This record gives sequence, structure tokens and C-alpha cells, in this order.
Amino acid sequence: MLKATLKKAAHEAGLLMKSRFNSGFSIENKEGVNNLVTEVDVACERLIMDIIREVYPDHFILSEETGEIKTDSTFKWIIDPIDGTVNYAHGIPICCVSIGLEKEGQMLMGAVYNPFMEEFFFAEHGLGATLNDAAIKVSRKQDVFSSCLVTGFPYSYLESPNGPLEVFGRLIRKGVPVRRLGSAAIDLCWVAAGRFDGFFEHKLNAGDSAAGYLMVLEAGGQVTDFDGNTYSPYQPHIVAPNGQIHQGLLDVINNRI
Ligand code: IPD
Ligand code: CA
Ligand code: CA
Repeated sequence: MLKATLKKAAHEAGLLMKSRFNSGFSIENKEGVNNLVTEVDVACERLIMDIIREVYPDHFILSEETGEIKTDSTFKWIIDPIDGTVNYAHGIPICCVSIGLEKEGQMLMGAVYNPFMEEFFFAEHGLGATLNDAAIKVSRKQDVFSSCLVTGFPYSYLESPNGPLEVFGRLIRKGVPVRRLGSAAIDLCWVAAGRFDGFFEHKLNAGDSAAGYLMVLEAGGQVTDFDGNTYSPYQPHIVAPNGQIHQGLLDVINNRI
């Protein structure tokens, strides 16, 4: 039932997102510059929370636009109703619904649905990751400098020492292709599917990564913070490549090579 509810919530919110694409919805600014929220983010979030609470009214929810709805439950749903809101607001169809389900600090399952590409990613702890029900695996690239990487840039904090722009510059100067799609959840799923060899970002929220980091782990990748420690979605830094380039990517991020 947990799995069915998770999939239903991601699927239905994705269809709502798609149906309202380019439909003249209202757009507002959150804190920071160009940190947007549309009325569709709010509508998708409401739909997801209604679907979850209809079955599990006592579960803890952490959702991007509403924040925490705390309960005593050991189950916690971590929701980003639209990951890639800036894309969505500009009519760029690279956006998705991202929902992770955690139990006692362990990510149990994650679903990421991009309705524009009809791509539904799902992962379950210990049982692997799938794209539209077919198993996916990370790439086998062994050298970080011949990898194709993806990253994102936060709405603030860009210029900090060893921050996003410095690390990006270091890779670009070595000729490494580093893409920027604008949706961390899709970035992570595309690493899981072997399209990218790795993803890193300096300042993510739990909603951006909860489902996607499980996707990378279950597809055979490695996910840590910038010190190589086990990843937690409650701290900002993420390095999520295939296992073979993990150390090399950490060395670049920490300016050791
Ligand atoms: C953002 C996207 C983006 C990442 C930002 C996130 P939002 O989420 O995931 O790729 O670079 O750090 O905040 O605002 O579109 O939900
Ligand atoms: Ca997000
Ligand atoms: Ca969002």
C-alpha cells in the first residue's frame, strides 16, 4: 500500500503539472532572487498531500511549499511537488514530481516522475531502481576527466570559497562537459540511468534529493557529502556519481587535483 500510494501521488501530480503547463498560471518570488513558486506548485502539493493523508492521516510530511507537518509517526514523506520550478515557469519541460518515503531515518522508497518525457523513476531500498519498470544502472566510466557530469546552482551562496562557480570553473577548464538541467531530482535520476556519470551540488534541500539519491544508490552509484561521508538529505552538499569516479570527483570538488 505504501508503494501504491507513493506511485499514485507522483503520477497524479505529474499529470496535473503537465495539464497546466503554459496555461497562464500565477508566479511569485520566494526568498532570494528568481526563486519562484507558481500556483501549480501549490496545487500539485495539495494533491499529493491529499492522496497520502487519505490513506495515512498520521504520517509525518515535509513538503517544499508547506514545510513540516509533524506527527509522532516513524514514516516521513519528503515532497517536492515541482522540482525545476524555474523551468516550469518558463515553459521548459524539464521538471518533475519528487517524493521520498523515509522510515526512522532510512529512505525506503523514492519516486520521480517527469510527465513531459513520460519517465517514471522508482527505487526501493535493497530492491534496485527502475525507469518505467525496467531496471537501470549507473554508468561504468572510470575517469572523472572523461565523464559527462551535471550540476546545479543554488539561488544564493554562489561566490563562496570553493563554491559552485569555482568547482564548475575547475571542471570546465579541463574540458569536462558539465550540464545544468535545472532539476536536481532529474539530474540524480539521469545518473541512476547511466546518462550522466555523476552529479554534485552545493546547496540542496531534502525535497530536491530524497527520492533521487536513493535512485542513484539503488542503481549502483555512490552518494556522499563533500567529505565522503554517508549522505543525509538534511545537510546541503551532495556528490552522486558512479562508484568508479567518486574519489576523483571528490578530489576536484575539494581542490586536491
Ligand atoms: C531547484 C532545482 C535546481 C537546483 C536548486 C533547487 P526547485 O529546486 O532542483 O536544479 O539547482 O538548488 O532549489 O526550486 O526547482 O524546486
Ligand atoms: Ca527542488
Ligand atoms: Ca520545488
